[in-house]
This record gives sequence, C-alpha cells and structure tokens, in this order.
Amino acid sequence: MKFFIDTGNIKEIREAAAMGILDGVTTNPSLVAKEGREFLELLDEIVAVVDGPISAEVTALDYDTIMKEARFYARRHKNIVVKIPIIPEGLKAIRTCADEGIRVNTTLCFSANKALLAAKAGSYIISPFLGRIDDVGGDGMDLIRQIREIYDNYGFKTEILAASIRSPLHVTEAALAGADIATMPFSVIQQLIKHPLTDVGLAKFLSDWEKVKRLQKVGT
Ligand code: E4P
Repeated sequence: MKFFIDTGNIKEIREAAAMGILDGVTTNPSLVAKEGREFLELLDEIVAVVDGPISAEVTALDYDTIMKEARFYARRHKNIVVKIPIIPEGLKAIRTCADEGIRVNTTLCFSANKALLAAKAGSYIISPFLGRIDDVGGDGMDLIRQIREIYDNYGFKTEILAASIRSPLHVTEAALAGADIATMPFSVIQQLIKHPLTDVGLAKFLSDWEKVKRLQKVGT
C-alpha cells in the first residue's frame, strides 16, 4: 500500500519524507488556503522534496477551463497529478486528460457509480472520501470495498486512494479492503507508529539492561 500525506504544509511533508515511508502528496484548495502561501511556489517546493505523485486540484467548473488548468499543472512537473472533481464537466475533462497522457486523481467521490465512471474515463486514481461519508452517518469503508470489487470484476487499473482518513484504524481497514493508496494527515502518520505497549516494553528493556551493565562492570 502506498502512503501519501494529505497536507499543504511543507514542514510536515519534509518530516514525513524523512521517515522513509512517503510515496506521494495530496493537496486540495482548503489545505492550501490554511498555509497562506502562493500555491505555485508551494507546489514547486513539494515536488523538490517528494519524488512521487503530487496532486494539484483544478478549481474551474467548465470543461475548457478545467483542461487549461490540467494542462498547465501537468506541464509544470512530471510528478504532478491533476485532481479533478467528479462532476459532468470534470468527467469529460478526465477522458481528454487520459487521451493526452495527463494523470488524473478524480476527487470528491462519494459513490461506487462515480468511481465506475472515473475508471471508464481513464482516471489514474479515484479518491473516495471515507471520513466525510462516516461524518454523515454512512460507511466510508464499505465504499472502498465496493470499488475494489467493481474494479477487480472488470480489470480497471485505476488506483483506489482512501481519502479523508481520520484515524489509524481507517488506515488498517483501508489496507484490508484493498485500497492501493491511503492519504492521511501528518497527525495520523505519527499515530501509526505509536503504541503504549511499545513504550512500556522499551522502558522495561532499558531498565533491565541497566542491571546487565552493572553486572558487566562487576565482572571486569
Ligand atoms: C483527498 O485528497 C482530500 O484532500 C482529503 O483527504 C480530504 O480530507 P478531509 O475530509 O479530511 O478534508
């Protein structure tokens, strides 16, 4: 499973990259707005830090302007994947992008049918937002399972990216459900390595080792 970080914060991206487990980055207009930075400058910094797919989202709603933005981002760096929402004009653009060799991350997916359409249009990635489905009382993980089954039934190569992840449990369950990628906030990446029994176990090993060291001193 590939791990992406879901942020526009360059410091978090650097720290996650330094952990050696980072495969890519997803951004969205809300995450970028939080940083209060010029987007293209930020994007250039991100591609310099992470050698993997970096999602940059279009903000146009009509086909022509979506395509203009998509071509612009795709030309800027080979690792940039264009994020396009799964709306009717977006769907047309996803097809054109696929025909032109532009990789698309289809975003704001909340149904198996939208995922099916994105795959048929040739999207490189589909992003079901599981946390937001849970937020409104649905079962986000069930959507991941459905998409996995549908893609496997027909041999679609579109990669399933579990998005809107809120907890380490989401990561485990998305992996079990067969998601190809999980994108998560830095806080969740940090939580993945935490376990109280690891800390307790390590403290005990270290205190016991002190006894061994004392004996060694006596013996020498
Ligand atoms: C995906 O690429 C989105 O940026 C993201 O996962 C949305 O997550 P949120 O629901 O926490 O905003």
